[in-house]
Amino acid sequence: MLIAGNWKMYKGSAETAEFCLGLREQELDGVDVVVCPPFVSLAVAVQLLAGTEIAVAAQNVHWDSEGAYTGEISAPMLRELGVYGAIVGHSERRQHFGETDETAAKRAHAALEAGLFVIACVGETEAERERGETEDVLRRQLSVLEADDNLVVAYEPVWAIGTGETATPDSAQEAHAFVKTLLDVEVLYGGSVKPDNAAELLSQPDVDGALVGGASLDLDSFTEICRAAIRS
Ligand code: PGA
Repeated sequence: MLIAGNWKMYKGSAETAEFCLGLREQELDGVDVVVCPPFVSLAVAVQLLAGTEIAVAAQNVHWDSEGAYTGEISAPMLRELGVYGAIVGHSERRQHFGETDETAAKRAHAALEAGLFVIACVGETEAERERGETEDVLRRQLSVLEADDNLVVAYEPVWAIGTGETATPDSAQEAHAFVKTLLDVEVLYGGSVKPDNAAELLSQPDVDGALVGGASLDLDSFTEICRAAIRS
């Protein structure tokens, strides 16, 4: 079981330090825990979580190792900092920053080549779900990825992200099982995972963990979700 906290554009270095010092004190044996702070907070997170089993990942990564790409960060730069992995293709990147299946795949490929662990996000929008296109969308988004020991997929139905609406455990299970028919990888569920719904979602046979946004920002709720994973 893997629980990853996607902090999005929250927590600068001071808040990151406070969170990581608190996280260090928690007993979290039996679950793989990853935090994904903003780029500027990665260094302090790496420093303060050194010597623990908790890993630090970035929220994005560029496909070239260096070059004229203003505002981007490369996989070797993340590696140099001691960062362990990266999220790619998050729906907010797709929605606001022009990310496509192809650019997400390029990022995933470069990150894996550089030795990073990758969480690749997929998921349908509400309109796509209503039109019955969920499987077509997942097939298209996954067609550009190849299975790899260091790759996990996060199934995040876009209509469930930050909305408080969660896929039912049955529909999450169904989507996860479908993803696994296309790619032999572990699959995390993401979309309004909270302490009170985590146990039920994580008990589904093909739910291998969670990518948690809002509820990962608070130490107590994040560790409660980690504990639900340990029990499941
Ligand atoms: P949420 O975000 O848990 O706030 O819905 C999940 C994500 O975007 O990864």
